[in-house]
Amino acid sequence: MSDKFLWGGASASYQCEGAWNLDDKAESMWDHYLHEEGLENGDIASDHYHRFEEDIRMMKEGGQNAYRFSLSWPRIIKNKAGEINEKGIAFYHRLLDACHTYGIEPFVTLYHWDLPQYWEDCGGWQNEEVCEAFETYARVCFDNFHEKVNHWVTFNEPKWFIASGYLIGNYPPCRQDPQAMIHAAYHVMYASALGVRAFRQGKYPGTIGIVHSFTPVNGVDDTVNTRIAMRYADNYCNNWILDTAAKGEIPVDLLSELSKTYDLSMIKPAQLQIIKDYTVDFLGLNYYSRTLVKPYTEGETTFIVNNSGKQGKGSSKVIVKGWFEQVMHDPASTYTEWDTEIYPKGLKDGLLEVKKKYNLPVYITENGIGMYEDVTVKQVEDDYRISFMKDHLQAMHEAMEAGADVRGYFAWSSFDLYSWKNGCEKRYGLVAVDFENGLQRKPKKSYYWFKNMIEQQKS
Ligand code: BG6
Repeated sequence: MSDKFLWGGASASYQCEGAWNLDDKAESMWDHYLHEEGLENGDIASDHYHRFEEDIRMMKEGGQNAYRFSLSWPRIIKNKAGEINEKGIAFYHRLLDACHTYGIEPFVTLYHWDLPQYWEDCGGWQNEEVCEAFETYARVCFDNFHEKVNHWVTFNEPKWFIASGYLIGNYPPCRQDPQAMIHAAYHVMYASALGVRAFRQGKYPGTIGIVHSFTPVNGVDDTVNTRIAMRYADNYCNNWILDTAAKGEIPVDLLSELSKTYDLSMIKPAQLQIIKDYTVDFLGLNYYSRTLVKPYTEGETTFIVNNSGKQGKGSSKVIVKGWFEQVMHDPASTYTEWDTEIYPKGLKDGLLEVKKKYNLPVYITENGIGMYEDVTVKQVEDDYRISFMKDHLQAMHEAMEAGADVRGYFAWSSFDLYSWKNGCEKRYGLVAVDFENGLQRKPKKSYYWFKNMIEQQKS
């Protein structure tokens, strides 16, 4: 394993920073939505805003050499006019300086879902203006931080936040409108290309990529109908992000299928040219599970996800009418309380598929397991997390031996944080955060296991 291989953990601004209205930060769409609905929120979260130094020191002490985190757009840009918040810039300088002090390579995402509410009020990702605003914001970040950052990411998981926001309706802006989803999805991919263009035009050092919620598609059998369903599912789950960002091409069969039912007039030739010209340097893959599909049989388009944390009770269900149905339970597999299948083999298969299709360097930008945990004990004995990571790292190594160009692995998450609609109860961290008792940090057993594993890779 090369010395340059990145080993670390990941987080996201809204999920860990807290300080939601401190130092002139503007409101994000998540602040607004969760406050309006009176739901558990990230107002304080892990209070990384004040404790980042301790968190980064623990990364170093845990043998890690990298940290993936995101910048908060509403902390950096105050309003629609684009006024820069110098206090926000200063905060991220402090964070980046701490990374460098402790020898931790920062891996920086520009957008991990916290759109400024002032842009959501103008239609959010439905509005083309937001794409240009993203480009301006990206340029502000490159200009201010380029001396301290070598790895940039435009967007975290377009598929997940767009499908959740516009189809499932469990994330802001809580719509269930396929036409709106298609519109927003296209704009996000266009905005990503604008971010890459700003990066190339500014000749900033380093590389830029996109992070995708990667879920390789498997079929229940090898019949023609299942293979057709798999292609539909792959277009829905993966190709519209990966083909567009890596090859500069939106899948043609996806566009022709969508054009039968939906208005695609927002797609403009000049924008397609920008998408074509400004592709990414690398792919970040967040891997949690695969998608197992069968041919569509009946029923309306349905998306139900388990945010309940009680296995089977959320009765997760995904049907895209006329396209495919997702098989939610494979008796040969095990599942978490949130109905996520544990399927390490998907990581190996997926990495090899991505190698074949895109031939770009890859980072595993998230991988982990969310569990209920009692963090009041002396040490959380999270053997299930160790075994989850072991199996996935084994799959990664096998894929690398077979030719996959993997350059880094980030556990989700560096420390416990706020898990969106699943709240703080769903814990992923290598380090426990006691949200009820002064936010005290305590390494879990997996933190020490990860440290030893990294150590062994060096020898
Ligand atoms: C990824 C996101 O989808 O998965 C993270 O990039 C998220 O932000 C993680 O927290 C786990 O999902 P969840 O819903 O269990 O928090």
